[in-house]
Amino acid sequence: MNWDFLDTDEEIVKESGKPIVQIFRQEGEGKFRKLERKTIRKACQQRQTVIATGGGAIVEPQNYESLAKTGLIVCLEAKPETIYERLFREAARSPETEGRPLLATDNPLERIRQLKASRQPYYAKADWTIHTDGLSIGEVAEEVVRAWRLRSLFRAKRGIHSAPRNDTSTVGDAPGVIARHEMPKQSHEHSTPGLPRSARNDMRKADRRDSDKDIACAVETETQSYPVFVGYGLLDKLGEKMKQAGLSGAATIVSDENVFSIYGSKVEGILRDAGLAVNSFTVPPGEATKTMDSAMNVYDFLVEHRTERDDTIVALGGGMVGDLAGFVAATFLRGMPWVQVPTSLVAMVDASIGGKVGVNHPEGKNLIGAFYQPNVVLADCQTLTTLPRRELTSGWAEVIKHGLILDREYFEFLKSNVTRLTKLEPECLTRAIARSAAIKAQIVSQDEKERGGKRTILNYGHTIGHALEAATRYKRLLHGEAVAIGMMGAAKLSQRLGLLPSAGVECQQALLHKFGLPTSLKTKRSNLKVSVAGITEAMELDKKVKGKAIRWVLLEDIGKAVIRSDVPQQDVLAVLRELVES
Ligand SMILES: NC(=O)c1ccc[n+]([C@@H]2O[C@H](COP(=O)([O-])OP(=O)(O)OC[C@H]3O[C@@H](n4cnc5c(N)ncnc54)[C@H](O)[C@@H]3O)[C@@H](O)[C@H]2O)c1
Ligand SMILES: [Zn+2]
Repeated sequence: MNWDFLDTDEEIVKESGKPIVQIFRQEGEGKFRKLERKTIRKACQQRQTVIATGGGAIVEPQNYESLAKTGLIVCLEAKPETIYERLFREAARSPETEGRPLLATDNPLERIRQLKASRQPYYAKADWTIHTDGLSIGEVAEEVVRAWRLRSLFRAKRGIHSAPRNDTSTVGDAPGVIARHEMPKQSHEHSTPGLPRSARNDMRKADRRDSDKDIACAVETETQSYPVFVGYGLLDKLGEKMKQAGLSGAATIVSDENVFSIYGSKVEGILRDAGLAVNSFTVPPGEATKTMDSAMNVYDFLVEHRTERDDTIVALGGGMVGDLAGFVAATFLRGMPWVQVPTSLVAMVDASIGGKVGVNHPEGKNLIGAFYQPNVVLADCQTLTTLPRRELTSGWAEVIKHGLILDREYFEFLKSNVTRLTKLEPECLTRAIARSAAIKAQIVSQDEKERGGKRTILNYGHTIGHALEAATRYKRLLHGEAVAIGMMGAAKLSQRLGLLPSAGVECQQALLHKFGLPTSLKTKRSNLKVSVAGITEAMELDKKVKGKAIRWVLLEDIGKAVIRSDVPQQDVLAVLRELVES
């Protein structure tokens, strides 16, 4: 950002001419905190400065006030174990850990836990929290910059509406809690037989049929017909759209903590303005939350609030929240109305449409679930401005997939608009999401319960993709990253079988690259030590296997998928070797 940087601990050492540990020893913590208050007050007078404070600074009300008045407060969270490990590494590098007098005990890890627990309520006052456990320093920095760009969102939250603020950003090195948890074993997303025709004509029909310009498409299955609204800033119309759909009972918002902290109060307000009674329930973010236990917690909340059959559940979040909240909607009181408000790209173009709901079992992903269609889907593309970049990039893989399997024109559109799309230019973004949503809607309308097999082509890239996710134990690759590599495998396989010319393979690869997606296992986030044997082993477990032969979704051309069950093993192995080695 080209800003100045200032570390308050370093300033204190400079100012007093003593190491911090000596100030503590000779003059006590009281003296240190006094110096700290002074330093922070002074630091806050500077413009365009990133200020790093110690983890205890924010506990002092005066410090919080100074920081909040002029800057944006970002909390860098981490698990106690992570903090311990980082300090330990630091200590191994230099004896400077001595500079952390509060941790000079026999059991520093326990001390970190205690300190962190006592400070947690103060950390909760930060404008933005970054769970840093799995992130590199560069990635954390990127998140801080993103928080700064989004600062207008926090002003409302803190009740600061018009007061001018200095360009100051504050980073407290708070210790911390959870990010993503370990994921269960095998993914069973999208997985059935069949081949649909082009979605385009039906999309146009849907466009014409609905004069309401927000409607991107409609899903029309045997059990339910419902509109999918896609727009920029559309959240404001959520209450109105729900009422138009005949939903007038009390609304229970189910969300995860990340999403709710940004959009929760806004959505509550919008629903209340529409005259709906509102309750909200949040769950921790991350795939580890998609369990029966979490569903049970939501049931408890619904029972406690005397939720009735004509009340509505509003799933506000990514695919995890959608799957969980939808599962609860399908089962509570034998089924109640529900609305999908997807906030991640994956959820907008994929998870929110089609009514597949469910939770994970310790033995496998999505093993428990139902087909239960929502009453309304409302995607506000503006919410993507707060989605972490890696999640966003991962979502583009499914979007590109839609072009590759069904719609060359759409593929060309994506190709010509990479910068606009990755920069989330509103009009272009909305067009792409509406198109992808329509493609998904059209396919599920033809094959709601994955019986006729129309949904199979959505599995393009997923045979290898799922195997990669499983082989890396769901820890290294996001779903879309694995699918991007899987699509490269499928394209190369198509080429080997004489279906797709090499220009097609290159064209796909170039577009994936432009969207920042990996195309082989030798990615920048490397250390992905996956062997060909590991992948084939995981592939045998993939539920797309029918009998023995895998039903491969391949390409005949950009925009034209075919299904083949006669792919020779040696070609698969050769392609996997290329993905692993190139
Ligand atoms: N039902 C289906 O047909 C279907 C299809 C595809 C995927 N899925 C499921 O969806 C899940 C994956 O979805 P996902 O990628 O959205 O994961 P997710 O819901 O876990 O969201 C990813 C992360 O982004 C955060 N987030 C979401 N929206 C945000 C926003 N606007 N601003 C800031 N942060 C935001 C979340 O808190 C989370 O940390 C998996 O459980 C998968 O099984 C279901
Ligand atoms: Zn997928």
